[in-house]
Amino acid sequence: MPKEWMKPEAAARILQSGGVVAIPTETVYGLAGDCFNVKALAKIFEAKGRPTFDPLILHIASLEEIERLASVFPRAARTLAEKFWPGPLTMVLPKRPEVPDLATSSLPTAAIRFPVHPVAQEIIRLAGVPLAAPSANLFKHVSPTTAEHVAEQLEGRIDGIVDGGACTVGVESTIVSFAGDVPTLLRPGAITLEMLQETIGDVRVKESTSKPGQAMAAPGMMDSHYKPRVPLFYGKIPEGAVLPRHTARIAFGKTEGPVQATVNLSSSGNLLEATANLYAHMHTLDTSENELILVDEIPMEGLGRALNDRLTRASIKTWPF
Ligand code: TXA
Ligand code: MG
Repeated sequence: MPKEWMKPEAAARILQSGGVVAIPTETVYGLAGDCFNVKALAKIFEAKGRPTFDPLILHIASLEEIERLASVFPRAARTLAEKFWPGPLTMVLPKRPEVPDLATSSLPTAAIRFPVHPVAQEIIRLAGVPLAAPSANLFKHVSPTTAEHVAEQLEGRIDGIVDGGACTVGVESTIVSFAGDVPTLLRPGAITLEMLQETIGDVRVKESTSKPGQAMAAPGMMDSHYKPRVPLFYGKIPEGAVLPRHTARIAFGKTEGPVQATVNLSSSGNLLEATANLYAHMHTLDTSENELILVDEIPMEGLGRALNDRLTRASIKTWPF
């Protein structure tokens, strides 16, 4: 079915009048709204069915714009910005009072990102304001990496979708917090822990700390994030377990094994390629014909940390068959 995509100019006009539009970024598609307009922010939460205790990421298209959002820009954050912006890195910094509480779930900090995708930059520039944009999926569902994925979940709930092609990175941005004394990795992504440590030295890793009904001090940390509808299992299959008849397998590298590979994240075992493919494969296999999706183990190094993070959250925690 052909979809109607919107041009950046039209998207910017809608954003300026308080509407919400899905826009491409290099990581995943975002559902954007004017970050200073509380009505637009409310529409974002409403369209996604997202609880307001889960704060949003604010997107800028120039380094100067950070002054509209952050009250402090520490030296280490500046160093990271010089090296990795524009790109798939979000930094949590003390916020300016003008940033609405709804954007940050009343936290004293704001999550800020400067995306590298040219269409994202164009839309932010044309709109003339930083854009709040969580991933453009229904709450707890798999993030979209194509305009079609967005339409499947949000068509009819939002004011438009801009198509910018398939996302090249494929998982959400790395989030580093400067709220405490030591920079802390809150969410692993394409800017890896190793890359951060090489650039600014000491970086702590935050473990999951979400509690229902509380503002997420650690973002995207709800254990049930990123779930397809079909049960997905990531980990060692229990001894003697019976697999349902319609079991699909997302392979990584080698395809031999007890279950035939349905799709492969990267037949050469390349982590960049695997990351770019992960959500698209999850979307493809999330159909009523499948009873179970198995995913091969991914090494816990570099980008593999982000893949392990998302897959562990997406996985069912007990074997139901
Ligand atoms: O790659 C990305 O970051 C994508 C694209 C669209 O830019 N956006 C994205 O947004 O992944 P979202 O809302 O799905 O995830 C943002 C996470 C949330 O889980 C939220 O808890 C966290 O960032 N976050 C936002 N503000 C925060 C803050 N002040 N302190 C700590 N965590 C924060
Ligand atoms: Mg999300």
